[in-house]
Amino acid sequence: MAFDQLRHVVATLESEIANGPIVPTVAPQEIRDYLGSRYDFTKPMALDEVTADVEQMMRRWQVQVTHPRYFGLFNPSVALASVIADTLVAMYNPQLAAWRTSPAANEIERHTLAWLTGKFGLPATTMASFTTGGAEANLSAVTVALTRAFPEYGEGGLRSLSASPAIYLTREAHDSFHKIAHMTGIGRRALRTVATDRDLKMDLGDLARRVYEDRRNGLAPVMVVGTAGTTAAGAIDPLPALARFCWFEKMWFHVDAAWGGAAILSPRLRGHLAGIDDADSITCDAHKWFSVPMGAGMFFCRHPDVVGEAFRAQTSYMPEKMAGPTVDPYTTSVQWSRRFIGLKLFLMLAQYGESGYVDLIEHQARMGDVLRESVERAGWRVVNNTPLPLVCFTRDGLAAGKFLADLYERQIAWMSEVRLDDGAPVVRACITSFRTSQSDIEWVVREMTGLASSNAEVTT
Ligand SMILES: Cc1ncc(COP(=O)(O)O)c(C=O)c1O
Repeated sequence: MAFDQLRHVVATLESEIANGPIVPTVAPQEIRDYLGSRYDFTKPMALDEVTADVEQMMRRWQVQVTHPRYFGLFNPSVALASVIADTLVAMYNPQLAAWRTSPAANEIERHTLAWLTGKFGLPATTMASFTTGGAEANLSAVTVALTRAFPEYGEGGLRSLSASPAIYLTREAHDSFHKIAHMTGIGRRALRTVATDRDLKMDLGDLARRVYEDRRNGLAPVMVVGTAGTTAAGAIDPLPALARFCWFEKMWFHVDAAWGGAAILSPRLRGHLAGIDDADSITCDAHKWFSVPMGAGMFFCRHPDVVGEAFRAQTSYMPEKMAGPTVDPYTTSVQWSRRFIGLKLFLMLAQYGESGYVDLIEHQARMGDVLRESVERAGWRVVNNTPLPLVCFTRDGLAAGKFLADLYERQIAWMSEVRLDDGAPVVRACITSFRTSQSDIEWVVREMTGLASSNAEVTT
């Protein structure tokens, strides 16, 4: 099937979005009134009319995350191959729960995950699956780690454990772990917050002190979460040291590389992920730096037997397992019915090749450097330290919230506000689009510097 029309639609949309506004100004009531006035669902409507209307709404009433001047929260621009993939998936609607119902789709996912497993340096026996995103992958990691640490956890639940589990992470780790602690029943207090150094990386001395103290107090230290590219500031925890610590302490070492994991492809960046090959499990999102549409996360675990134990299921209404080396994903992952998530990564990889992907990733890393240097040259103070394309910055007297509101109003760019280490709010800008160019960045830095200076004049 030819996708010429889709190619045309995607190209037109890309250029219209790039030349349009980035940030909407709309109140909830305006949208509710609009929907209420047009859609009471009593009469059928022409599909063309509805799709045109929905597209208008999406154009007017959303932050345009695929805009080259969106410097936001890891929502990428997406390329044609990944859009074609999602279209094919919707049309064929394969069910990947069991191997028998979707042999092609299951094998394409397996093949793609095996490729990335090798890149991470994990053994070929690693069990991997596509997830809805990083949060589900992190949930998988905690579930599997608890299953290994406490053989009685699966049948008897938490009440059968002789000691309360504890998980170690920094305040910079992704907040999904708090929800996961709640959902798995270990409780939010089971998360032990380890101190960070001045670059917001986990402090190994503090980790060791907490683990020993907790053990003395009767807790059961289970897992350390090292983040490879924290959400707020792009910090990479000291993975080799954490791996050694976990090995020595017989603890599970999980690396949350939801965003930063894609750096493993880049000869320039992969050294920063050294130690990830010793992880017991890894979270990596395709829908972040691999530039495919949501939701496409991945979970990798070097202990296939424990994964099988944690997610085991057997019913007569599911197709019988194939004999031989196939896996039914509903028995090795959180999800039951599952969408063909992996096709978008497979198609991108096949079209661009690994070297094309490296170009996409390294271009964004270079644009991160351009952004960092430009803001510093323009008199801003960069307050984070990362090799990844994420820059947090401020200047004396800056009211970040007011500054960002003005930035949005003038449609200069989308950036966000963040507090690092409980400091004052600063501006956070991340390169998330492979279309962002040096001239986009230089224009934005010029405009926002002018804006900050005029704001300062108004307030002084
Ligand atoms: C480090 C990290 N881990 C996990 C997540 C959660 O991923 P998702 O939003 O795909 O569930 C994020 C999201 O930004 C993240 O930055």
